[in-house]
Amino acid sequence: MNTRLFSFVGGNTGDWRVTHMTTIIGEPLAAVHRLNIAAEAAIGASSEWVLRGITSNERYVTRDEKNSLVEKQEGLGRPASVCAALIPIKKSPAWWTLTQDERRKIFEEQSTHVKTGLKFLPAVARRLHHCRDLGPDEPFDFITWFEYAPADSAAFDDLLAQLRASPEWSYVTREIDIRLERIPA
Ligand code: HEM
Repeated sequence: MNTRLFSFVGGNTGDWRVTHMTTIIGEPLAAVHRLNIAAEAAIGASSEWVLRGITSNERYVTRDEKNSLVEKQEGLGRPASVCAALIPIKKSPAWWTLTQDERRKIFEEQSTHVKTGLKFLPAVARRLHHCRDLGPDEPFDFITWFEYAPADSAAFDDLLAQLRASPEWSYVTREIDIRLERIPA
């Protein structure tokens, strides 16, 4: 079993109820009522779509940034974090033809992605999944997942507004903002 591979299955089953789906840019995804998150390459029989992604090593963070993240961040699954956001993202060929140092410059020196994100920890817990190396037909490059308490919803929107206004986001060609709430057990 590959413990780094996750499938996000949109359909009529799963622990998360979809409250809003907003297409920020690019082709929309079919509307769904529920989301199931499965380890491995799940195929939901009654699903509208399945998005797959794999967790990986970090590409951009410096040692100092990593230390700050480890010090402040908390894990997924906190009982109070009943709100979530699933935001699949695709970036343009122009982004992917840049070199690693050029991308880091846009990601952090120009867009302050980590510096901005750090201000929202530990309220927001997150997991980043990569899709590109799964094959040529993946619809997105990243599947991002965030969990937070209802009281932090406005802060999460503020964080997104700051990131979307940054130079990094000018390379985003497809983005769907899916908000969810956990169904009580
Ligand atoms: C909650 C606060 C956040 C923190 C602390 C944070 C931190 C980070 C870090 C450290 C990385 C780089 C990992 C690496 O070195 O490879 C990263 C990548 C990324 N984050 Fe965030 N982030 C936050 C919020 C967000 C939000 C709200 C979004 C919007 C969807 C987002 C989307 C992404 C994407 C798409 C990448 C991959 C970028 C790439 O490799 O081109 N992040 N984030």
